[in-house]
Amino acid sequence: MEKRVKTKIKSVKKSKSKSKKSKKTKKEPIIELKNLWKTYHLGKVPVHALKSVDLKIYPGDFVIILGSSGSGKSTMMNMIGALDVPTKGKILLNGKDTSKFEESDLAQIRGQKVGFVFQQFNLMPVLSALQNVSMPMMFQDVPEEERLERAEKLLKMVGLEDRMTHRPTELSGGEQQRVAIARALSNDTEVLLADEPTGNLDSKTGKQIMHLISKLHKENGKTIVLVTHDINLVKYAHRTVKLKDGKVVMDNHHKPVKI
Ligand SMILES: Nc1ncnc2c1ncn2[C@@H]1O[C@H](COP(=O)(O)OP(=O)(O)OP(=O)(O)O)[C@@H](O)[C@H]1O
Ligand SMILES: [Mg+2]
Repeated sequence: MEKRVKTKIKSVKKSKSKSKKSKKTKKEPIIELKNLWKTYHLGKVPVHALKSVDLKIYPGDFVIILGSSGSGKSTMMNMIGALDVPTKGKILLNGKDTSKFEESDLAQIRGQKVGFVFQQFNLMPVLSALQNVSMPMMFQDVPEEERLERAEKLLKMVGLEDRMTHRPTELSGGEQQRVAIARALSNDTEVLLADEPTGNLDSKTGKQIMHLISKLHKENGKTIVLVTHDINLVKYAHRTVKLKDGKVVMDNHHKPVKI
């Protein structure tokens, strides 16, 4: 009898440790910044844009990066997207140290892992919405037919099926930002990095863009990192990181408000 009970306890313990293990494997960060420093040299005065930043971004995160102008938000985003090299410290992509990668490998990984959305939209003015969205796929050697098919699908997803042949100047600000979001998703990247995506939009259009980004997080499982000055956007995310003078001064997990 006693023996049976013991065996039972043992098996419970075993399954407990198993579930702990599977939780742990799920929790590996996609991107990790470790003791990261970025120093710019302007004349004789060094500008420490980032000072010993540690940050882990996990799959499925929706992180808002807050901070006043000059606090290092864009510098940090460029590091998260491995677009810039740190002065000191490490950037890990899926646990791998990016400083060990060749530039060509890094470019390939960047294209597949992160999509960028900027405040100024940064669309190619001579290209149509469809061509803008399909362009990043060219760098990943996606065949033309598939590129156009995917670009069409993405533009439909952001509600621009009637604007495919329009050039950026023939689109409103909100429409241009939706094209930029579709373009950022064109390689089906896991992570969407958005630096002030609503900064150039009126509040109603900004809200529509935030709803679209929320939907990408909830329904498409994208990991979102979004920089803003606007404290009102915190409600869309479940984590808020605050930067001050190049340092992380707050990292809060919270519930997003139901939208
Ligand atoms: N290329 C550069 N050369 C020199 N200094 C730079 C460079 N880029 C940024 N800086 C400086 O680094 C600091 C951080 O800049 P960063 O662009 O990351 O700020 P930010 O938080 O994004 O600000 P904003 O909200 O105004 O966009 C600032 O003091 C800025 O002047
Ligand atoms: Mg900035």
